[in-house]
Formats: sequence, C-alpha cells, structure tokens
Amino acid sequence: VAQVFNVGVDVDDPSTIPSYAQYWKMDRGSPPAFLIERSEGDIGPTRVPKEVFTSAKFHQLEMEKLWKRVWQAACRENDIPDVGDWLVYDIGDQSVIVVRVAPDKIRAFPNACLHRGNRLFDGAGSQCDQIRCSYHGWSWDLNGSIKEMTCRWDFGDVDSDLVRLVDLPCTTFAGWVFINLDLNADSLDCFLGPDIVAQVGHSPYHRSWKAAHIAKVIPCNWKAMFHNVIEFYHLETVHRNSVLSYTGDLLTQYDFYGPHSRFIAPFGVPSPYLGEVDEQAVLDSFLSGIHRNLVGSEEPEHESTKLGPEQTARQFICDFLKAMLSERCGDLSHVSDTEAIDALGYAIFPNLNIWTGYVSPFVIRVRPHGNDHSSCLMEVMTFVHMPEGHKLPRDVPMRMTPSDETWTDAKDIANLALPLDEDTEAALLRIQRGMQNDNVREIILASYHEGAIRNLHHHINQYVEA
Ligand code: FES
Ligand SMILES: [Fe+2]
Repeated sequence: VAQVFNVGVDVDDPSTIPSYAQYWKMDRGSPPAFLIERSEGDIGPTRVPKEVFTSAKFHQLEMEKLWKRVWQAACRENDIPDVGDWLVYDIGDQSVIVVRVAPDKIRAFPNACLHRGNRLFDGAGSQCDQIRCSYHGWSWDLNGSIKEMTCRWDFGDVDSDLVRLVDLPCTTFAGWVFINLDLNADSLDCFLGPDIVAQVGHSPYHRSWKAAHIAKVIPCNWKAMFHNVIEFYHLETVHRNSVLSYTGDLLTQYDFYGPHSRFIAPFGVPSPYLGEVDEQAVLDSFLSGIHRNLVGSEEPEHESTKLGPEQTARQFICDFLKAMLSERCGDLSHVSDTEAIDALGYAIFPNLNIWTGYVSPFVIRVRPHGNDHSSCLMEVMTFVHMPEGHKLPRDVPMRMTPSDETWTDAKDIANLALPLDEDTEAALLRIQRGMQNDNVREIILASYHEGAIRNLHHHINQYVEA
C-alpha cells in the first residue's frame, strides 16, 4: 500500500513533524557517517540591527575586517586550466589577479601597478607570460618579480624588491581557487576546519565541470541575498508552486561547523504544509517539475511513472536520477540515496553556497557589488560531475546578465531558473527597500529554521569586532 505522508502532522506542533532522519533510515544503503552525525549549534543573535544591511559605515567595517581577512573562492581551477590563463576577482574596492603560472601552481597578486597605481587587468584571458601595465609599460613576470621598469635609470633609488608584486595567499580545494588578502592568514584548511574539508572534499566537486555561470546585480545587501539560500523557511510561501510538493521543507536538518553550516532537506517527500499526500502524487509532481528541466526534454522517457506497491517516491526518483546521471557522471551505484536525491548543501563562510547532492549540482556565490552596501553581485553556477580521472573541459566563463532580465530569460540554468525567479520577485528585489523604512529597526530570526543565518551573523560579528 502506498505511503500517505503527513498523517497526523500538524505544522503548528513540531513534535508531530517527522525528521529528515526518519526518511534516510527508510532508504536503501547507508549514508556516509558524516551525514548522520549531527553537529548542532545554537549560537548567534536572533536580532540583527538593520544597519548591518543598510549602512555604508558597516560595509566599510566589513571591507576592512572581514573581506580583507577571510578566505574567499575567487574562481574554479578549471576557469584557468592552462599556464598563462588568468582571471580578475574583485571584492569591494580591492582586486586580485589570479593566474596559473605552472601546471600545478596558481598565484594571486593585487591587481594594481606599483608605479602610479593603475589597475592592471580586467576580466579574464589566456596566454599571459607577463603582467604589463597599460599606462607606462612596467611589467612583471608571473612570479611577481619586476621585469621591466621603463626608463629604469629614472628611478635610481627604487630597488626591485620594492616593486615586487605581493604574492597573496592562494590555494585550491575541491576544484576551487581560494585567495586571501591577508598575508598573515591562517591556512585554508584551518579556516575550513576538518569537517568541511572532509565533507566537501568527499563531494564530486574536485571533478566537476562548470557548465553555466551567470551573474546579476541584485539591489540588496549581499547578506540579505545569502540568507535566502541558507534557510528553507521561505519555501511554503515563495516556492509553493514549484518545489514545495516534493521538498520536506520543515524537515530540514541544519548542522554547524564553526562559521560554516550544512543543510539537508529531503526531496521526494512533500512539505508538511500540504497535508496528506500519497507517494504517487509526490512522484508525479517531481517528474513534471524537476525532471523536465534537468533532462531538457518535454516528457520523461522512462517506461512507467506508476510506483510499484513496494516502491517509494524517493526510491523511484533516486533510481531514475542515478540512471540519468550515470551517463555523464560515471557509475553512481556507490552513492547513497540521500546524497543522490536530497537538497544537501553547505554555506561556506562568508558567501559560498555549494550544493553537493547529485540532484542539484549548483553553487551560488554572492559579494558586494563594487563598494556598494545596498546591492550585490549574485552568481549562479551549474556543474556536471564527471567520472574520476576524466579530463575536464574548460569551465564556462561568467556571463553578466541585465538586472531586469529574469533567471528564466538567462536560459543556461534551466532547472534553477523558476525557483530563483520566485526568490527574486518575492524577496530579493524588495528586501532592501523594505528594510530602509524607519519602522524596521532590526531583523528577527527564528531559533531553528534561521539558525544558519544566526550563525553567519555571529561569525561576521567576530570578524568586525576583532
Ligand atoms: S601606472 Fe603602471 S606603469 Fe605607470
Ligand atoms: Fe528560494
């Protein structure tokens, strides 16, 4: 007999709401131990003064004390796969050139000429064998040593060390290139901590191809945008017509690892808000929604969409996804059901949201837009996990899209576009303007469902108050 979900569940009584664990316990195979182990945290304020979002002064504090000290993902290793490939990463009014100087060595330099301060590079490029200023032609080799000072004789007392480009801390992890503006920064491993290193390291991102990367300026503070991707509290209102019918929003489990956090929301399970729903209805809504977008074809081609008497929607979706993805990703038989199907992701402090579940291989990164506290650059990247040992194609570069274009218009991120448009319309375009009203003095955060936001602010405070 098909399971009927949500029998006896009352959304106003948390003791009646099942846990995520109840579902993975019914799955086939066991999830890796790290997904079972909880790392609960209960830190961070439940009230955050609105100035944290609306004040240029607080932004300046963040620039000095957070962004100039924290490790941040500048790009993917595969954005710059060949020696001489480079890319500019901007954060606030600071700018960094990331360049591959050898097959296994990437360096990061401040993006400014040491003669009269000209910005050296813009965008991204290839086949660079020196860094040359466009103004008076000073140039550096790819190790940062000065190569040529035009009219060297005219700079008598300037020695080569003074005009050496500073080698910023730069290292790689899980296919990402991380940089730090602080020369005295602790190691990236130390910043991420052993749990994140192990868990994100276990994910397939070290062998992933970035298939799409689109960016848009959003008129809200970067943190207000980031909040939206680290809580599942808004699904009932914002995503009622898209993902709610197959996402157990109120079942989401949040775990905390220092400044970082993890969420796991079960897919293939309806929201408790929807009342009693049977397995078949969950499957039907999943197939009509996510499947079409993932596969990019009109209708599913599998033999039957009717569940067998002993089959759950989660199992069906899981088998279906694994079969579909194994064509591109290689054998997925070792992957647990929860890793295959669930909305599983990490918030890497302060601004990187990596979804590690196979069903949703995407990443969102957000940073201040230039030096403006009231707008941000939101980037959405989708990935294809490749079989181990496979040579990865060059990543698709970032493409800016106009602010007034929808995510759906952008085309490249099909399966994400609808929920992102829902987020954008319901909140991202409205939140900054709302917050600026004088009656808003602070934001109020839920203890549990907004725990990751609380954790984020707790650690931002640690930086800015240090
Ligand atoms: S400012 Fe760069 S060479 Fe003069
Ligand atoms: Fe959302």
